[in-house]
Amino acid sequence: MAKGVSQFDSPQEKEAYVQGMFDSIAPRYDLLNRLMAANLDQRWRRRAAREAVGAGRGPFLDVGAGTGDLTFALARAAPRARVLGLDLARGMLARGRAKKAFDPHRMGMVHASGLAIPAREGAFEGITNAFVLRNLADQGAFFREALRALQPGGRLVSLEINRPPGRVFGPLYRFYFLGVMPRVMRRLSGNPEAYGYLADSVARVDPPDVIARRMGEAGFAHVEATPLLRGAVVLFVAEKAA
Ligand SMILES: C[S@@+](CC[C@H](N)C(=O)[O-])C[C@H]1O[C@@H](n2cnc3c(N)ncnc32)[C@H](O)[C@@H]1O
Repeated sequence: MAKGVSQFDSPQEKEAYVQGMFDSIAPRYDLLNRLMAANLDQRWRRRAAREAVGAGRGPFLDVGAGTGDLTFALARAAPRARVLGLDLARGMLARGRAKKAFDPHRMGMVHASGLAIPAREGAFEGITNAFVLRNLADQGAFFREALRALQPGGRLVSLEINRPPGRVFGPLYRFYFLGVMPRVMRRLSGNPEAYGYLADSVARVDPPDVIARRMGEAGFAHVEATPLLRGAVVLFVAEKAA
């Protein structure tokens, strides 16, 4: 049976489950991603990278980097800056490191948790994450940790799936994400349970105003949530006070 996101007994249990699940689907993750989002996901990542880059001096950090797509978008948006990706799942990181876009001279892909970022206070000009928030064992703890690791005036930029409102698009989206997609993915992913978890995590994702409020409670000075694709995805930009 697929693990429901509310079925974990502790943050540690959820972290271990998420890590194992992403390790198991790592070989097919990029293919599945492209199939699910018809390549729109790459456009959203480029936009998130531009929002995070600011002056472009860096360094920048991509949390839950996975196979590196947003990490590489960040590196392209800030061509002289140092860029670091971190993730819990070693299998995902290994795929990222094997890509042509990985430049070992100014990039790193490290195994760590976003809940304990291995960097000093104020280390990063910008921090990003794409489709990670709903997988975190403790979102508030992550926002506090990101705030600590950001320079004053630095930005945390997050992309996350949303359950879009609307009479037409809402049901269509639910039909696709909760009905069709898990079935197709179950066949392709090599881990039937993984996409049960994914569908469940999409069904239970917090509304954007709740996520934005949590960012504010963690101490971010200014938080903005912009709907993309009629609200199917949300871009959050949270600024640390200068
Ligand atoms: C849906 S994937 C997104 C990967 C990548 N950001 C992308 O856009 O394709 C979510 C990733 O978040 C990672 N993750 C989940 N919890 C994490 C945590 N506490 N710290 C670091 N990475 C985490 C997972 O291992 C997985 O690789």
